[in-house]
Amino acid sequence: MNIVILGSGGREHALCKKIHLSKKVKKIYSIPGNAGTSDISENINLPLNDFSKIEKFIKDKNIDLIVVGPEQPLVDGIVDYFENKNINIFGPNKIASQLEGSKIFTKKLCEKYNIPSANFGIFESAEKALNFLSKANFPLVVKADGLAAGKGVYICKDLEAAKLGISEIFNGKFGKANNVLVEEFLEGEEMSYFVISDGKTYKKFETAQDHKRVGEGDQGKNTGGMGAYSPSALINEELDKKIINKIIEPTLKGLKDIGTDFKGFLYAGLMIVKNEPYLIEYNVRMGDPECQTILPRLKNDMLDLLLSCCKKDLSKIELNWHEDKSLCVVLCSKGYPENYDNNIEITGLDKIKVSGKKNIYHAGTLKNNNITYSNGGRVLNFSVLSDDLKDARTKAIKMIQELDWNNGYYRKDIGFKAIKD
Ligand code: AMP
Ligand code: GLY
Repeated sequence: MNIVILGSGGREHALCKKIHLSKKVKKIYSIPGNAGTSDISENINLPLNDFSKIEKFIKDKNIDLIVVGPEQPLVDGIVDYFENKNINIFGPNKIASQLEGSKIFTKKLCEKYNIPSANFGIFESAEKALNFLSKANFPLVVKADGLAAGKGVYICKDLEAAKLGISEIFNGKFGKANNVLVEEFLEGEEMSYFVISDGKTYKKFETAQDHKRVGEGDQGKNTGGMGAYSPSALINEELDKKIINKIIEPTLKGLKDIGTDFKGFLYAGLMIVKNEPYLIEYNVRMGDPECQTILPRLKNDMLDLLLSCCKKDLSKIELNWHEDKSLCVVLCSKGYPENYDNNIEITGLDKIKVSGKKNIYHAGTLKNNNITYSNGGRVLNFSVLSDDLKDARTKAIKMIQELDWNNGYYRKDIGFKAIKD
């Protein structure tokens, strides 16, 4: 079979590697891909927002399945576009993608189906929001509505911080704003919970914990994710049942009730407060770096799994997982998430030993004349399977030290809440 994977991050390289293991694969194309995907697939440079150009490519190359990595094309309706042309595409449709594309859509769903999440208010003007905030207790969270690539969320200690957030949002920092969301601040530990669904049934797709802050001890600015481990140390049978019964199933029912369904990976960003789950946000795709952390644990044929979702046959598949835990450390460009240099050569990658248990996934990299260069904030992911998280972390860091890339920065404490030093 011929497969297209859309996206260029570590998540997409991890998907590409896993799909590449399937005997049914004839050829994979990555649009646009990175230096890592170019080793096992052909990178094609096409804009992800030009569906008709992608369609022409798909038809020319007899593509059997499109796998969508990032959220933007999903929110833009790429799945509806290709489903209407009877082309297999893995990901949710435009309406279901509102779970990530509109925080207000999700909040209203939570309200209607009693899904536990932070109390909230929606305000259509800065004046109304400020009027509310002048009487509110802090800390509070101020959020922009649409996609904001992990930004657009202000955790506010006081009224001053909230005023700044509201003025930046209404001044268009995250695109045109018709509303602002003000939320109660939830104090607890975050967890990423995944399910895969074909629109008829769903299966649990493991848990992970991500480290979003740039600095050790979870300090400093928010990033796309500096590392993750799986499974989450927080998960237990009772919590799992609560997440399914109070959050996942009511959400899928809510989509049915408005005449649609969910096909793809559903990623619930949860806050766990005293073994009670609260929904912070939904994403309609795999997480990054959670995907690079979870996929090495999966035993199944990835292509069969994705195709079963397109055929609405997921109920026939049993997911099997390695007993090992997994931990992933992200190597960034120095300066990320603020200013950093691109096009810095990376040498010695092929000298580092990888195996089924040790993987290197590329993110912001590109290849030119067989030389690999950095091309983004998050550059490489070092992901290790082991029965012990500390051992996995030690091995991941050893790979980074062997690489010894002089423009790199990484956190040495990934998994610290689950690892007793
Ligand atoms: P989001 O873009 O909604 O994932 O928010 C980014 C980050 O802000 C989350 O990963 C949380 O760490 C934090 N956050 C968002 N909403 C809340 C909340 N209501 N209470 C506490 N922290 C929050
Ligand atoms: N790991 C955070 C995200 O993928 O949004």
